[in-house]
Amino acid sequence: MANQLEEIRLELENSQVSDAEALEQFRMRFIGRKNVIGDLFSAMRNVPNEEKKAYGQQVNELKNLAQAKFQEHIDSLAAGKGETEDHADLTLPPLHSEFGSIHPLTATRQRFIEIFERIGFNVSSGPEIEDDWHNFTALNFPENHPAREMQDTFFIEKNPDIALRTHTSSVQIRVMENEKPPIRTLSPGRVFRNEAISARAHCVFHQMEGLYVDKGVSFADLKQTLYHFAKEMYTKDTQVRFRPSYFPFTEPSAEIDISCQICHGEGCNICKHTGWVEIGGSGMVDPNVLANCGIDPEVYSGFAFGMGIERITMLRYGIKDLRLFTENDIRFLKQFNSL
Ligand code: DAH
Repeated sequence: MANQLEEIRLELENSQVSDAEALEQFRMRFIGRKNVIGDLFSAMRNVPNEEKKAYGQQVNELKNLAQAKFQEHIDSLAAGKGETEDHADLTLPPLHSEFGSIHPLTATRQRFIEIFERIGFNVSSGPEIEDDWHNFTALNFPENHPAREMQDTFFIEKNPDIALRTHTSSVQIRVMENEKPPIRTLSPGRVFRNEAISARAHCVFHQMEGLYVDKGVSFADLKQTLYHFAKEMYTKDTQVRFRPSYFPFTEPSAEIDISCQICHGEGCNICKHTGWVEIGGSGMVDPNVLANCGIDPEVYSGFAFGMGIERITMLRYGIKDLRLFTENDIRFLKQFNSL
Protein backbone atom coordinates (compact mmCIF):
# COMPACT_ATOMS: atom_id res chain seq x y z
CA MET A 1 0.00 0.00 0.00
CA ALA A 2 2.62 2.47 1.10
CA ASN A 3 4.52 1.71 -2.11
CA GLN A 4 1.55 2.41 -4.24
CA LEU A 5 0.99 5.79 -2.57
CA GLU A 6 4.62 6.68 -3.11
CA GLU A 7 4.46 5.66 -6.77
CA ILE A 8 1.48 7.86 -7.43
CA ARG A 9 3.07 10.77 -5.60
CA LEU A 10 6.17 10.44 -7.83
CA GLU A 11 4.02 10.12 -10.92
CA LEU A 12 2.24 13.38 -10.02
CA GLU A 13 5.47 15.19 -9.16
CA ASN A 14 7.09 14.23 -12.46
CA SER A 15 4.04 14.65 -14.66
CA GLN A 16 4.45 16.71 -17.82
CA VAL A 17 1.73 17.97 -20.08
CA SER A 18 2.61 19.45 -23.49
CA ASP A 19 -0.77 19.68 -25.15
CA ALA A 20 -4.50 19.56 -24.60
CA GLU A 21 -4.65 15.82 -25.17
CA ALA A 22 -2.05 15.09 -22.48
CA LEU A 23 -3.93 17.40 -20.13
CA GLU A 24 -7.11 15.40 -20.67
CA GLN A 25 -5.27 12.15 -19.97
CA PHE A 26 -3.94 13.64 -16.72
CA ARG A 27 -7.43 14.76 -15.79
CA MET A 28 -8.94 11.32 -16.41
CA ARG A 29 -6.23 9.54 -14.44
CA PHE A 30 -6.12 11.81 -11.38
CA ILE A 31 -9.21 14.02 -11.25
CA GLY A 32 -12.06 12.50 -13.28
CA ARG A 33 -14.95 10.44 -12.00
CA LYS A 34 -13.07 7.12 -11.81
CA ASN A 35 -9.54 8.14 -10.97
CA VAL A 36 -6.63 6.39 -9.29
CA ILE A 37 -6.91 8.49 -6.15
CA GLY A 38 -10.56 7.57 -5.84
CA ASP A 39 -9.45 3.94 -6.03
CA LEU A 40 -7.09 4.57 -3.14
CA PHE A 41 -9.99 5.93 -1.09
CA SER A 42 -12.02 2.84 -1.93
CA ALA A 43 -9.12 0.66 -0.80
CA MET A 44 -9.39 2.24 2.67
CA ARG A 45 -11.67 -0.56 3.79
CA ASN A 46 -8.77 -3.07 3.51
CA VAL A 47 -6.50 -0.92 5.68
CA PRO A 48 -6.18 -2.04 9.32
CA ASN A 49 -8.12 0.26 11.64
CA GLU A 50 -5.10 1.63 13.45
CA GLU A 51 -3.53 2.77 10.14
CA LYS A 52 -6.71 4.15 8.61
CA LYS A 53 -6.17 7.70 9.87
CA ALA A 54 -2.60 8.04 8.57
CA TYR A 55 -3.59 6.36 5.28
CA GLY A 56 -6.54 8.71 4.83
CA GLN A 57 -4.33 11.71 5.43
CA GLN A 58 -1.81 10.57 2.80
CA VAL A 59 -4.48 9.92 0.19
CA ASN A 60 -5.96 13.34 0.90
CA GLU A 61 -2.56 14.92 0.35
CA LEU A 62 -2.30 13.10 -2.98
CA LYS A 63 -5.72 14.40 -3.94
CA ASN A 64 -4.62 17.96 -3.16
CA LEU A 65 -1.36 17.43 -5.04
CA ALA A 66 -3.30 16.19 -8.10
CA GLN A 67 -5.55 19.27 -8.01
CA ALA A 68 -2.56 21.61 -7.69
CA LYS A 69 -0.66 19.89 -10.52
CA PHE A 70 -3.73 19.94 -12.74
CA GLN A 71 -4.05 23.70 -12.27
CA GLU A 72 -0.34 24.15 -12.89
CA HIS A 73 -0.60 22.26 -16.21
CA ILE A 74 -3.63 24.32 -17.29
CA ASP A 75 -1.76 27.53 -16.52
CA SER A 76 1.39 26.56 -18.36
CA LEU A 77 -0.56 25.44 -21.45
CA ALA A 78 -2.52 28.71 -21.44
CA ALA A 79 0.74 30.67 -21.26
CA GLY A 80 1.86 28.82 -24.36
CA LYS A 81 4.74 27.09 -22.69
CA GLY A 82 4.03 23.42 -22.41
CA GLU A 83 6.94 21.77 -20.68
CA THR A 84 8.06 20.22 -23.94
CA GLU A 85 7.70 23.34 -26.02
CA ASP A 86 6.40 23.33 -29.60
CA HIS A 87 8.98 24.71 -32.00
CA ALA A 88 8.04 26.93 -34.92
CA ASP A 89 8.00 24.99 -38.19
CA LEU A 90 10.45 26.91 -40.33
CA THR A 91 9.52 24.95 -43.43
CA LEU A 92 5.98 26.41 -43.55
CA PRO A 93 5.32 29.03 -46.25
CA PRO A 94 5.31 32.57 -44.80
CA LEU A 95 2.08 34.30 -43.84
CA HIS A 96 1.31 36.73 -46.62
CA SER A 97 0.90 40.20 -45.22
CA GLU A 98 0.29 43.11 -47.55
CA PHE A 99 1.38 46.64 -46.92
CA GLY A 100 -0.66 49.63 -47.97
CA SER A 101 0.87 52.19 -50.27
CA ILE A 102 1.01 55.87 -50.91
CA HIS A 103 -1.67 57.02 -53.36
CA PRO A 104 -0.10 57.86 -56.75
CA LEU A 105 -1.45 61.44 -56.56
CA THR A 106 0.20 61.87 -53.17
CA ALA A 107 3.44 60.42 -54.50
CA THR A 108 3.44 62.92 -57.36
CA ARG A 109 2.67 65.82 -55.04
CA GLN A 110 5.53 64.79 -52.75
CA ARG A 111 7.96 64.45 -55.68
CA PHE A 112 6.86 67.87 -56.98
CA ILE A 113 7.57 69.49 -53.62
CA GLU A 114 10.91 67.68 -53.32
CA ILE A 115 12.05 69.07 -56.68
CA PHE A 116 11.07 72.65 -55.85
CA GLU A 117 12.24 72.59 -52.24
CA ARG A 118 15.76 72.03 -53.53
CA ILE A 119 15.57 75.30 -55.46
CA GLY A 120 14.27 77.29 -52.51
CA PHE A 121 10.46 76.98 -52.70
CA ASN A 122 8.29 76.49 -49.62
CA VAL A 123 4.72 75.16 -49.46
CA SER A 124 1.66 77.25 -48.67
CA SER A 125 -2.04 76.51 -48.51
CA GLY A 126 -5.38 78.30 -48.61
CA PRO A 127 -9.07 77.50 -48.10
CA GLU A 128 -11.08 75.37 -50.54
CA ILE A 129 -14.09 77.65 -50.02
CA GLU A 130 -13.00 81.02 -51.40
CA ASP A 131 -14.38 84.51 -51.76
CA ASP A 132 -14.64 86.32 -55.07
CA TRP A 133 -11.65 88.55 -54.34
CA HIS A 134 -9.10 85.72 -53.95
CA ASN A 135 -10.49 83.42 -56.65
CA PHE A 136 -11.25 86.06 -59.30
CA THR A 137 -11.06 89.78 -58.68
CA ALA A 138 -7.55 90.09 -57.24
CA LEU A 139 -6.39 87.82 -60.07
CA ASN A 140 -7.47 90.47 -62.54
CA PHE A 141 -10.70 88.83 -63.71
CA PRO A 142 -12.83 91.95 -64.42
CA GLU A 143 -16.44 91.77 -63.27
CA ASN A 144 -18.76 90.30 -65.93
CA HIS A 145 -15.74 89.55 -68.06
CA PRO A 146 -16.04 86.35 -70.12
CA ALA A 147 -12.78 85.17 -68.55
CA ARG A 148 -14.84 84.17 -65.50
CA GLU A 149 -16.64 81.67 -67.67
CA MET A 150 -13.37 79.95 -68.53
CA GLN A 151 -13.95 78.08 -65.29
CA ASP A 152 -17.37 76.68 -64.46
CA THR A 153 -17.82 77.49 -60.84
CA PHE A 154 -19.73 75.86 -57.96
CA PHE A 155 -21.12 78.87 -56.10
CA ILE A 156 -22.09 78.51 -52.46
CA GLU A 157 -23.44 82.05 -52.09
CA LYS A 158 -24.05 84.90 -54.52
CA ASN A 159 -23.62 88.63 -53.75
CA PRO A 160 -21.16 88.60 -52.22
CA ASP A 161 -19.91 85.52 -54.04
CA ILE A 162 -18.49 82.57 -52.14
CA ALA A 163 -17.44 79.55 -54.20
CA LEU A 164 -15.48 76.33 -54.18
CA ARG A 165 -12.15 77.53 -55.53
CA THR A 166 -11.73 76.84 -59.23
CA HIS A 167 -7.94 76.92 -59.09
CA THR A 168 -5.06 77.21 -56.63
CA SER A 169 -4.12 80.63 -58.02
CA SER A 170 -6.18 82.02 -55.13
CA VAL A 171 -3.37 80.95 -52.80
CA GLN A 172 -0.93 83.21 -54.75
CA ILE A 173 -3.05 86.17 -53.65
CA ARG A 174 -3.16 85.08 -50.02
CA VAL A 175 0.62 84.63 -49.93
CA MET A 176 1.37 87.95 -51.67
CA GLU A 177 -1.03 89.81 -49.34
CA ASN A 178 0.77 88.44 -46.31
CA GLU A 179 4.43 88.17 -47.28
CA LYS A 180 7.06 90.42 -48.76
CA PRO A 181 9.25 89.38 -51.71
CA PRO A 182 11.34 87.40 -52.28
CA ILE A 183 8.52 84.85 -52.46
CA ARG A 184 9.08 81.35 -53.75
CA THR A 185 6.14 79.12 -52.98
CA LEU A 186 4.22 76.05 -54.12
CA SER A 187 0.53 75.63 -53.34
CA PRO A 188 -0.90 72.16 -53.82
CA GLY A 189 -4.58 71.48 -53.32
CA ARG A 190 -8.02 70.40 -54.42
CA VAL A 191 -9.98 72.50 -56.89
CA PHE A 192 -13.57 72.23 -58.10
CA ARG A 193 -15.30 72.83 -61.42
CA ASN A 194 -18.76 72.12 -62.67
CA GLU A 195 -17.77 69.52 -65.26
CA ALA A 196 -19.11 66.13 -66.27
CA ILE A 197 -16.88 63.29 -65.11
CA SER A 198 -15.03 61.42 -67.87
CA ALA A 199 -11.72 59.68 -68.44
CA ARG A 200 -10.05 63.08 -68.86
CA ALA A 201 -12.02 65.42 -66.57
CA HIS A 202 -13.46 65.45 -63.07
CA CYS A 203 -15.37 68.01 -61.03
CA VAL A 204 -12.80 67.62 -58.23
CA PHE A 205 -9.12 67.49 -59.05
CA HIS A 206 -5.76 68.67 -57.77
CA GLN A 207 -3.50 71.48 -58.88
CA MET A 208 -0.02 72.61 -58.03
CA GLU A 209 0.52 76.33 -58.15
CA GLY A 210 3.97 77.87 -58.27
CA LEU A 211 4.90 81.50 -57.63
CA TYR A 212 8.22 83.32 -57.70
CA VAL A 213 8.31 87.07 -57.01
CA ASP A 214 11.49 89.06 -56.56
CA LYS A 215 13.46 91.89 -58.17
CA GLY A 216 14.42 91.05 -61.75
CA VAL A 217 12.51 87.78 -62.25
CA SER A 218 12.17 87.18 -66.01
CA PHE A 219 10.53 84.81 -68.48
CA ALA A 220 13.94 83.14 -68.83
CA ASP A 221 13.70 82.16 -65.14
CA LEU A 222 10.24 80.71 -65.75
CA LYS A 223 11.45 78.63 -68.69
CA GLN A 224 14.60 77.39 -67.01
CA THR A 225 12.72 76.45 -63.82
CA LEU A 226 10.16 74.43 -65.77
CA TYR A 227 12.85 72.75 -67.91
CA HIS A 228 14.48 71.66 -64.67
CA PHE A 229 11.15 70.46 -63.28
CA ALA A 230 10.28 68.38 -66.37
CA LYS A 231 13.64 66.62 -66.38
CA GLU A 232 13.43 65.86 -62.66
CA MET A 233 9.81 64.70 -62.69
CA TYR A 234 10.22 62.63 -65.85
CA THR A 235 13.46 61.85 -67.68
CA LYS A 236 16.50 63.87 -68.71
CA ASP A 237 15.44 63.83 -72.37
CA THR A 238 11.95 65.23 -71.71
CA GLN A 239 11.26 68.24 -73.94
CA VAL A 240 9.25 71.31 -72.86
CA ARG A 241 7.31 73.58 -75.22
CA PHE A 242 5.66 76.93 -74.39
CA ARG A 243 2.58 77.93 -76.38
CA PRO A 244 1.33 81.54 -76.24
CA SER A 245 -1.96 81.70 -74.35
CA TYR A 246 -4.14 83.96 -72.25
CA PHE A 247 -4.81 84.11 -68.51
CA PRO A 248 -6.15 87.26 -66.82
CA PHE A 249 -3.50 87.06 -64.10
CA THR A 250 -0.37 86.70 -66.27
CA GLU A 251 1.11 88.72 -69.10
CA PRO A 252 2.55 87.27 -71.24
CA SER A 253 1.00 83.82 -70.68
CA ALA A 254 1.90 80.41 -72.00
CA GLU A 255 0.60 76.85 -71.91
CA ILE A 256 3.25 74.33 -70.89
CA ASP A 257 3.51 71.18 -73.02
CA ILE A 258 5.93 68.30 -72.50
CA SER A 259 6.94 65.61 -74.96
CA CYS A 260 4.54 62.67 -74.63
CA GLN A 261 5.82 60.25 -72.01
CA ILE A 262 3.65 57.44 -73.35
CA CYS A 263 4.68 57.24 -77.02
CA HIS A 264 7.81 59.43 -76.91
CA GLY A 265 6.77 61.33 -79.97
CA GLU A 266 5.54 58.47 -82.12
CA GLY A 267 1.89 59.44 -81.70
CA CYS A 268 -0.75 57.91 -79.41
CA ASN A 269 -4.23 58.62 -78.09
CA ILE A 270 -2.94 60.44 -75.03
CA CYS A 271 -1.11 63.10 -77.07
CA LYS A 272 -3.71 62.93 -79.83
CA HIS A 273 -0.91 62.01 -82.23
CA THR A 274 0.90 65.33 -81.76
CA GLY A 275 3.76 64.06 -79.56
CA TRP A 276 3.01 66.83 -77.01
CA VAL A 277 0.84 66.88 -73.89
CA GLU A 278 -0.31 69.98 -72.04
CA ILE A 279 0.52 69.90 -68.31
CA GLY A 280 -0.49 73.42 -67.23
CA GLY A 281 -0.46 77.16 -67.69
CA SER A 282 2.14 79.76 -66.81
CA GLY A 283 3.23 83.35 -67.31
CA MET A 284 4.65 86.52 -65.83
CA VAL A 285 2.47 87.76 -62.96
CA ASP A 286 0.35 90.62 -64.30
CA PRO A 287 1.42 93.99 -62.77
CA ASN A 288 -2.23 94.57 -61.74
CA VAL A 289 -2.12 91.38 -59.65
CA LEU A 290 1.06 92.46 -57.85
CA ALA A 291 -0.50 95.88 -57.17
CA ASN A 292 -3.76 94.28 -55.89
CA CYS A 293 -1.64 92.53 -53.25
CA GLY A 294 0.35 95.61 -52.25
CA ILE A 295 3.53 94.68 -54.12
CA ASP A 296 5.05 97.47 -56.24
CA PRO A 297 5.18 96.24 -59.88
CA GLU A 298 7.78 98.90 -60.67
CA VAL A 299 10.18 97.18 -58.27
CA TYR A 300 9.20 93.54 -58.41
CA SER A 301 8.29 91.04 -61.08
CA GLY A 302 7.34 87.39 -60.88
CA PHE A 303 6.36 84.26 -62.69
CA ALA A 304 3.60 81.79 -61.87
CA PHE A 305 2.39 78.45 -63.10
CA GLY A 306 -0.43 76.05 -62.36
CA MET A 307 -0.46 72.36 -63.22
CA GLY A 308 -2.89 69.49 -62.84
CA ILE A 309 -1.50 66.84 -60.49
CA GLU A 310 -3.74 64.17 -62.06
CA ARG A 311 -2.37 64.92 -65.53
CA ILE A 312 1.24 64.86 -64.31
CA THR A 313 0.59 61.53 -62.58
CA MET A 314 -1.12 59.97 -65.59
CA LEU A 315 1.90 60.78 -67.72
CA ARG A 316 4.25 59.54 -65.06
CA TYR A 317 2.71 56.08 -64.79
CA GLY A 318 0.86 55.67 -68.08
CA ILE A 319 -2.60 55.87 -66.50
CA LYS A 320 -5.28 56.38 -69.13
CA ASP A 321 -8.40 57.06 -67.05
CA LEU A 322 -8.58 59.72 -64.36
CA ARG A 323 -11.49 58.02 -62.63
CA LEU A 324 -9.15 55.29 -61.39
CA PHE A 325 -7.71 57.77 -58.88
CA THR A 326 -10.94 57.98 -56.92
CA GLU A 327 -12.52 54.55 -57.42
CA ASN A 328 -10.43 52.97 -54.65
CA ASP A 329 -10.02 49.75 -56.64
CA ILE A 330 -7.43 47.75 -54.77
CA ARG A 331 -6.18 46.15 -58.02
CA PHE A 332 -5.21 49.62 -59.24
CA LEU A 333 -3.78 50.91 -55.96
CA LYS A 334 -1.74 47.74 -55.36
CA GLN A 335 0.37 48.51 -58.41
CA PHE A 336 1.91 51.44 -56.54
CA ASN A 337 3.03 49.37 -53.55
CA SER A 338 6.67 50.25 -54.06
CA LEU A 339 6.15 54.03 -53.97
N1 DAH B 1 -5.17 78.92 -62.78
C1 DAH B 1 -5.01 78.33 -64.11
C2 DAH B 1 -6.07 77.29 -64.34
O1 DAH B 1 -6.57 76.76 -63.40
C3 DAH B 1 -3.65 77.73 -64.24
C4 DAH B 1 -2.57 78.75 -64.23
C5 DAH B 1 -2.19 79.35 -65.40
C6 DAH B 1 -1.98 79.11 -63.04
C7 DAH B 1 -1.19 80.28 -65.42
C8 DAH B 1 -0.97 80.09 -63.05
C9 DAH B 1 -0.61 80.66 -64.26
O2 DAH B 1 -0.36 80.49 -61.95
O3 DAH B 1 0.40 81.57 -64.25
O4 DAH B 1 -6.38 76.98 -65.45
